[in-house]
Amino acid sequence: MKGIILAGGLGTRLHPITLATSKQLIPVYDKPMIYYSLSTLMLAGIREILLISAPQDISSFEALLGDGSHLGISINYAIQPEPEGLAQAFLVGEAFIGKDPCALILGDNLFFGNELQQILRNSVSKIKGATVFTYPVNDPERYGVIEFDSSNFAVSIEEKPSKPKSNFAITGLYFYENSVIDIAKSITPSERGQLEITSINQIYLSQGLLNAQSFGRGMAWFDTGTHEALLEASQFVRTLQKRQGLMISAVEEIAWKNGWISDSELEMQGNKLANTEYGKYLLTIIQNR
Ligand code: G1P
Repeated sequence: MKGIILAGGLGTRLHPITLATSKQLIPVYDKPMIYYSLSTLMLAGIREILLISAPQDISSFEALLGDGSHLGISINYAIQPEPEGLAQAFLVGEAFIGKDPCALILGDNLFFGNELQQILRNSVSKIKGATVFTYPVNDPERYGVIEFDSSNFAVSIEEKPSKPKSNFAITGLYFYENSVIDIAKSITPSERGQLEITSINQIYLSQGLLNAQSFGRGMAWFDTGTHEALLEASQFVRTLQKRQGLMISAVEEIAWKNGWISDSELEMQGNKLANTEYGKYLLTIIQNR
C-alpha cells in the first residue's frame, strides 16, 4: 500500500502563526507536526510516501525530510496548486499511486495508542473498498460524522453537520482500494467549493464497501488545526513522554523498530541531534537495546 500525507491548506485558523510557514511544520511539543502523521503511516508498514503541499512550502518539507532514505522509506513530493479539497490528493497523486491501494493521512492529525499499530496493519492487510477510522468526540459538528444503525452498520456520513447524527467523528486517516482514483475523478465540488473526502466515502458507503474501524477507549486522536487543539496535543505529548521516558512519533525509532534502518544508521541520526533531548533519546534506545 502507498501512502499520501496531505500537508496543504492555508492554515487560516492558526494565523498569525501560519502566515509565513506551513501549519504542518509548526511544533506539537518537541517535533514538527508532520512527524506524527508520517509515523502513523510508518506504523502501518507503509514505505512509499507522497507528501503533497502548497507551492510555497514544499521546499521546507524537502529540507526537513529529504528523500526519506534516512528512515528506510521513500518520500516523494507533489504540489497542490490551490487548496481545493482533500479528495484532490488522489488526482495530484494519481501517477504516484499507480495501480496500488493507497492510504491518505492529513498532516495535522495525531494518533496514539497501544493498539494502533495492530489495528493499522490489520486494516492494511484486508483492505477492500474503503476503511475509515472513527473516534467518539464531544464536538462532532467540527468533523465528518458517521451514523450507525442498531446492528452497528454505517448508514450515513455527513461533513460538518449542524445537527450531528452521532458523536462519532471520522478521523483524518483513510485506506482505499485503487478505485479511489476513479471515484475522486467522478465527484464534484461541495457547496463550499471543495472536493470533499466525505463525498468519496459516501460513494463507498452507497456501494456497501465502507468499513468503519473504531478507535475507542485507550486511543488518542487530535486534529491540531486550532490553537486550543494544538496546545492540547502538545500537552498530551509532553505529559506522556515525561512520565514514561518514551517518545511519541520519533520517526527514526519507528524506522529502526520496523527493521528499516540499522543500529548504526539510528546512531548516526542520534549523533546529528546529540545536543537535544530528541537526539539523546535516539542514542539511549540504541544503548539499551
Ligand atoms: C477534515 C475532513 C473531516 C474530518 C477531519 C479530520 O476536516 O473534511 O471529515 O473529520 O478532517 O481531521 P478539516 O479538518 O480539513 O476541516
